[in-house]
Amino acid sequence: MSTLLIVYHTRTGGSRQMAESAADAAREHGPVLVMTADQAGPADLLKAGGYLFCEPENLAAISGVMKDFFDRCYYPVLGRIEGRPYAQMVCAGSDGENAVRQTARIATGWRLKEVQPPLIVCTHAQTPEAILAEKTIPEADLAKCREIGAALAAGLAMGVF
Ligand SMILES: Cc1cc2nc3c(=O)[nH]c(=O)nc-3n(C[C@H](O)[C@H](O)[C@H](O)COP(=O)(O)O)c2cc1C
Repeated sequence: MSTLLIVYHTRTGGSRQMAESAADAAREHGPVLVMTADQAGPADLLKAGGYLFCEPENLAAISGVMKDFFDRCYYPVLGRIEGRPYAQMVCAGSDGENAVRQTARIATGWRLKEVQPPLIVCTHAQTPEAILAEKTIPEADLAKCREIGAALAAGLAMGVF
C-alpha cells in the first residue's frame, strides 16, 4: 500500500503537534512515515505515494529548515513524482498566507495534486516572549489536522487520487 510521507519542521512545537495529530489519524488508514525536514530527502519523496507538508511561517516565509528540505529535494525528484497527491498545514502567529503560497508554488513545480485545502493554524502569538514560547495547539485545530491526515491516507489506500 502507498505510504503517506509527512514532512514537518517546528521551532516551538506547534507544527510538530499538528503533524503528529495528522499522522495518528492517517495510521488508521494506511502506512505513514513522519520525518523532520532536516532528515527527509529525495529518496523518501520517491518512495512515498503522497505528501503532507507542515511548518511554521517565519518572516513571511516557510521556515528556513523546510525551505532547505525543498531546495535539497527539488531537482533530484523533478519529473519523478508528478501527479502524486499532497496537502499542507502551516502554523502561524497571525498570518501564514505567504508560507502557503510558497509551498503551493513548489508543489506546482513538482506537478503535485492538491487534494485538501491548505490549513493555517494561528497561535496568536504577538510578543517576542509569546512567539518564542513552546506552543500548545488547541484540540479543535488538532482535529482539523487529523481530518487532513485521515483524508490523505484513506484516499491513498483507496487509490482515488
Ligand atoms: C523568527 C520568527 C518569525 C516569525 N514570522 C512570522 C510571520 O511572518 N508570520 C506569522 O504569522 N507568524 C510568524 N511567526 C510566529 C510563528 O509562526 C508562530 O509562533 C508559530 O506558532 C510557530 O510554529 P512552531 O511552534 O511550529 O515553530 C514567527 C516566529 C518566529 C520565531
